[in-house]
Amino acid sequence: QDEKSHYISEIKRLLKERDAVLVAHYYTDPEIQALAEETGGCVSDSLEMARFGSTHPAKTLLVAGVRFMGETAKILSPEKTVLMPTLHAECSLDLGCPIDEFNRFCDEHPDRTVVVYANTSAAVKARADWVVTSSIAVELIEHLDSLGEKIIWAPDRHLGRYVTQQTKADVLCWQGACIVHDEFKTQALQRMKTLYPEAAILVHPESPQAIVDLADAVGSTSQLIQAAKNLPHPQMIVATDRGIFYKMQQAVPDKELLEAPTAGEGATCRSCAHCPWMAMNGLKAIAEGLEHGGSEHEIHVDDALREAALIPLNRMLDFAA
Ligand code: 13P
Ligand code: SF4
Repeated sequence: QDEKSHYISEIKRLLKERDAVLVAHYYTDPEIQALAEETGGCVSDSLEMARFGSTHPAKTLLVAGVRFMGETAKILSPEKTVLMPTLHAECSLDLGCPIDEFNRFCDEHPDRTVVVYANTSAAVKARADWVVTSSIAVELIEHLDSLGEKIIWAPDRHLGRYVTQQTKADVLCWQGACIVHDEFKTQALQRMKTLYPEAAILVHPESPQAIVDLADAVGSTSQLIQAAKNLPHPQMIVATDRGIFYKMQQAVPDKELLEAPTAGEGATCRSCAHCPWMAMNGLKAIAEGLEHGGSEHEIHVDDALREAALIPLNRMLDFAA
C-alpha cells in the first residue's frame, strides 16, 4: 500500500469516526477533490462551500481551502467542529486588508455601504454591511446601486473595478490583489490565442483588466465551469488557478483545457497559476487534522466577532438564494 492510499483510507475511516464531511474548494489538488466527491462531501466555489457546510448535518467539517473558508464555516455553524489541514493557509487578499487600516478607511467614508469579498478575516466581515463572493458580486452591487447606495468595496481591486464597470455604481475600492490572478500576462495570452485561434478565453475577475478584456467569459470558478460547457469552442484557455481543471475537465471531457500563461518575457512567476496556500492542503495534513484536531487544526472565532460577521454573511446567503 503506497503512502497516498494509506492516507486516503485513513481519511475515510476518520471521516466516519468523527461524523465529519470534507468540504473542498476547486483549487485544491485533484486527489482531494476526488476524495471529497467519493465520501459525500462537496467540491465547489466559496459560496457553495459556505452553504453546504451550514446545511450539512455532520458534526465536524473538514474544510480544505484557505483560512477564510474555515472561518466562514465556523461563523455559520458555531455548534460544529471546523477543522482545516493547516491554519497557515492564508490568502493574499485577506492578508492585504488588516482590520485596523480597514476600520480607518471605512471611518473616513461613513456615508458608504461596506461590501467585502468573502476572502477576508472574520474581523473585516464583522465591520461590513455585506459579504459577497465573485459569483454574486455584480448582482449585489447592481442591487445596492438601484437603492441609491454608494459603496466601499474590499479588498480585491480587480474584482472591484470589474463590478464597477459592469454596474456603473459609485464604488470606492480597497487596493488589494490576489497573487495568483495578478500574474496572468497579457502579451503572452495574446500570443497563445494566435497559436490556438479556436480557443475561448475564460477569466476569473480577480485578474488584471487587460486579461479580462481578452475574455470570452468572465466569472467565478463555478461560472467558468458553466461557461466551458456553454461555449462552442473545442479548446479553453483558462485564466484562474489550475486546480479548477479537475472539475472543468469532468464537465467538458471532449474539450482541451489550457493554462493561461503566467510568466511573460522577462517576468518572474511567483505563483504560476496555483495558489501556494491552497497547495498546503495535502492528504497527510487532512488525515492529521481529522486525527488530532486541536490548536494546529481547529478554527475558533471570537464570539463577538462571530455574531457581528454572521449578519453580513447571512445577508449574502439570503441574497444568493
Ligand atoms: P470563488 O468564489 O470563485 O470560488 O473564488 C475564490 C477564490 O479564492 C478565487 O481566487
Ligand atoms: Fe486568495 Fe488568490 Fe489563493 Fe484565491 S487564489 S485563495 S484569492 S491568494
